[in-house]
Amino acid sequence: MNATSESRVGAIHASSPLVARVFAELSDGQFHSGEDLAKALGVTRSAVWKAANALRDLGTSMEAVRNRGYKLLGASEPLAAAHIREHLSPSVNERLTRLDVAWMTASTNSELVERPYPAQGRSEVLLAEFQTAGRGRRGRSWLAPPGGAVCLSLSWTFPEVPRDAGSLSLAVGVSVLRALLALNVPDVRLKWPNDILVGDRKLGGILIELRAEAAGPACVVVGIGLNVALGSGLVETIAATGLRATDLVTVTGGSVSRNALAAQLIENNVRGLLSFEQEGLKPFIEQWRNADALRGRPLDVSVGSEVVRGLGRGIDLSGALLVETREGLQKFLSGEVTVRPAE
Ligand code: BTN
Repeated sequence: MNATSESRVGAIHASSPLVARVFAELSDGQFHSGEDLAKALGVTRSAVWKAANALRDLGTSMEAVRNRGYKLLGASEPLAAAHIREHLSPSVNERLTRLDVAWMTASTNSELVERPYPAQGRSEVLLAEFQTAGRGRRGRSWLAPPGGAVCLSLSWTFPEVPRDAGSLSLAVGVSVLRALLALNVPDVRLKWPNDILVGDRKLGGILIELRAEAAGPACVVVGIGLNVALGSGLVETIAATGLRATDLVTVTGGSVSRNALAAQLIENNVRGLLSFEQEGLKPFIEQWRNADALRGRPLDVSVGSEVVRGLGRGIDLSGALLVETREGLQKFLSGEVTVRPAE
């Protein structure tokens, strides 16, 4: 553990940007008047007003009522490294050489990719309340408002590039599923290769980036984005890109502790990376198959400019998607899948 770096960015405190401190004050979900906020934070009311507007511009759902002040809708506790560590088992805690929470960064994945590889068997974790350039698969952007998601990346060094490295994203999908099951989130499904769904709506996604040296160690950065409370505006913005999103508040009908969720994600992913390193996809495959959102469904698989039509037939041990087509069973190691409405 790197205590210096954790205390510097591990929680929102007096030296954080005003917008982060206003967010922290409002995170109890109650109304706070501009005057009270200004007093608590040692700034002017106009500075508070500007910070509240900045928060809204970042996508935070907020109510502002004359004579009552500001209130966050879908409020949630700020992420804090110390709280996350409290939820972790001692063995996983020991493996984390760093666990940082940033108020804002371009992308937690981009930041970890720039760092030196962690030692083997160790991991560095970075979470951000807000990403200015969050990245999804296939060059898409990943959108989430401050407090409305868990955006987390963790790095891990394998002694060499794992066999069937492509199946790692499926193992990570199962680790995310295990984290959500531990928090009693119902009806979670996995869509090949690595979408987390509830019903046909996307709850989260995984972005894995691998750096390797010839015949040497390979470092992966596993990026996980899970929607917690997106707000209806953002759900509509995402819908305009052709994607149906949901969040944990909608799915569970209640509030979710993001620190507990972050801890479950870290706990299950560190354990998952250790067992993937030993045994590949094998310890994950049964759970993946039981949660498969595509099995038996009519699919279009786009690979480059080609679209292959068929029925989902699960996955194999290398992590390939199996599709029954007119020409027989085909295997896909990459591609974009859409489910066709039943004819
Ligand atoms: C996808 O479904 O397209 C993958 C989304 C991955 C988003 C996460 S959020 C944390 C990490 N940092 C990023 O910039 N992306 C990943």
